[in-house]
Amino acid sequence: MKIIMLGAPGAGKGTQAKKIAEKYQIPHISTGDIFRANIKNGTELGKKAKTYMDQGLLVPDELVCDLVVDRVQQEDCRNGYILDGFPRTIPQAESLDRALAALGESVDYAVNVEVPDENIVNRMGGRRACVGCGATYHLVYAPTKKEGICDTCGAELILRDDDRPETVQKRLGVYHEQTQPLIDYYSKKGILKDVDGTMDMGAVFQAITEILGA
Ligand code: AP5
Ligand code: MG
Repeated sequence: MKIIMLGAPGAGKGTQAKKIAEKYQIPHISTGDIFRANIKNGTELGKKAKTYMDQGLLVPDELVCDLVVDRVQQEDCRNGYILDGFPRTIPQAESLDRALAALGESVDYAVNVEVPDENIVNRMGGRRACVGCGATYHLVYAPTKKEGICDTCGAELILRDDDRPETVQKRLGVYHEQTQPLIDYYSKKGILKDVDGTMDMGAVFQAITEILGA
């Protein structure tokens, strides 16, 4: 099963993608997580990506497409995968489609998690990310057992650099301009599935599993 998660920054793509990956035993591929891991490790890719990410801008397509196309052809993706944060532009979607078509494959579902802009700013301000394993929490909606400490690995939690309110506004603008057109793109292909992302996390997950079946 090949699934794409669509939605604004902070809509809950990562939260849901992790749970889906676990349930269906497929890899969760988040381009944001890949870039953050590269930044942490000080790689060339990380250095390039950081300059865009810190401003709330998209990393250029050429730095993203090959990376994902390579990743989805690895052995662990044989039974499918869930893409979180990719594609984010029409050229990225076209490049994925071309690569899959060459293998005789295609995307099965594009799950669009819908959350209005007003809710997003509030969610991002409360999000906390683990510096160790990248796990995501929320001060109110998904608190850790011990304040400021990751439940999974015990490392410290931080507010992501790009979660400051002014950067969130910028990311929302970029989303509406460059990523939202993908809703139409996948709708025309007949694989778009809308989900109300304002429900609580469990209800959103249930709605998605009803779409995916089993
Ligand atoms: P990325 O890491 O993908 O960020 P994003 O799309 O902006 O999305 P987020 O991770 O911020 O939000 P999310 O939807 O995953 O929400 P989450 O589950 O955490 O990308 C970062 C940057 O990398 C981009 O800005 C860009 O520069 C670059 N980049 C990445 N991919 C790229 C690409 N393909 N092309 C170009 N550039 C790229 O949830 C948010 C918060 O809300 C959490 O605290 C969570 O606990 C809480 N929450 C989740 N669900 C609920 C709920 N139902 N109710 C209440 N709270 C909830
Ligand atoms: Mg995410």
